[in-house]
Amino acid sequence: RIVYVNGSYLPEEDAKVSVFDRGFLFADGVYEVSTVLEGRLIDNEAHLVRLKRSLNELQMESPASPSEIVEIQNELIKRNGLNEGGLYLQITRGAADRDFAFPKNTTPTLVMFTQEKNLLNSPAAEKGISVISVEDIRWGRRDIKTVGLLAPVLAKQAAVVAGVDDAWLYEDGYVTEGSSNNAYIITKAGTIVTRNLGNEILHGITRRAVLELANEADMEVEERAFTLDEAADAAEAFVTSATTFVTPVISLDGKAIGDGKPGPLAKRLRQLYIEQAL
Ligand code: PDD
Repeated sequence: RIVYVNGSYLPEEDAKVSVFDRGFLFADGVYEVSTVLEGRLIDNEAHLVRLKRSLNELQMESPASPSEIVEIQNELIKRNGLNEGGLYLQITRGAADRDFAFPKNTTPTLVMFTQEKNLLNSPAAEKGISVISVEDIRWGRRDIKTVGLLAPVLAKQAAVVAGVDDAWLYEDGYVTEGSSNNAYIITKAGTIVTRNLGNEILHGITRRAVLELANEADMEVEERAFTLDEAADAAEAFVTSATTFVTPVISLDGKAIGDGKPGPLAKRLRQLYIEQAL
């Protein structure tokens, strides 16, 4: 695999960043994961707008303009012959002697790599996934897509140890989101409910696209916090992200959601999402 690091395309074993990189020492950096289908980036402009916003919130400069980034992304897709999967992009504040405050005159580090993955034909989407609830112990600015991901790492590991697929994070009894996706329930009355935007969740690019499709299909949508009890009592549930699209959730904390099978609305939304992406 060919990896991009600060202006160079290198075999992954030759791609290196400094021990003093602030991404490594402080998780002082941001990232994006864009979808690649049929060799093309999906909804990439929206990812780059969110990247810019994350950088601004951390008072970081981008080492490349949006058009330069797109050029590198496409070159990397080409060099790796990537047809389907994800494109990971990370920008850190760069390398400097260890000091908490921003260093002066560092050059940001820009890294990109591809990950081949079957996204369209995914067994998880076919069967649905099981989740456990895990307390959300992340920091207060989850709207910034930073590389400080220890809390979701621990949540996902707890899910693996429990023999399930993922974790839904909760705070004060309310679900915030999944470990690396946005979380939704569909009530017995047929209303899609997902957490409203704020600092408590990442503003998902897939979330925005799916809510738009739901509106166009005249489905009822409510953007508000929902409790774990409401989720346990829901007719359906699902998650969204760039790498999972719409994936049905069929159980929470060992209890089936609805009839314990992927629900019709979640399946329809997945299909609508894929149709508009292709
Ligand atoms: N995760 N919420 C969190 C906490 C996330 O990490 C992600 C994405 C999402 C969904 O956002 P989007 O629809 O823009 O992918 C929501 C990526 C895929 C990751 O970390 O791998």
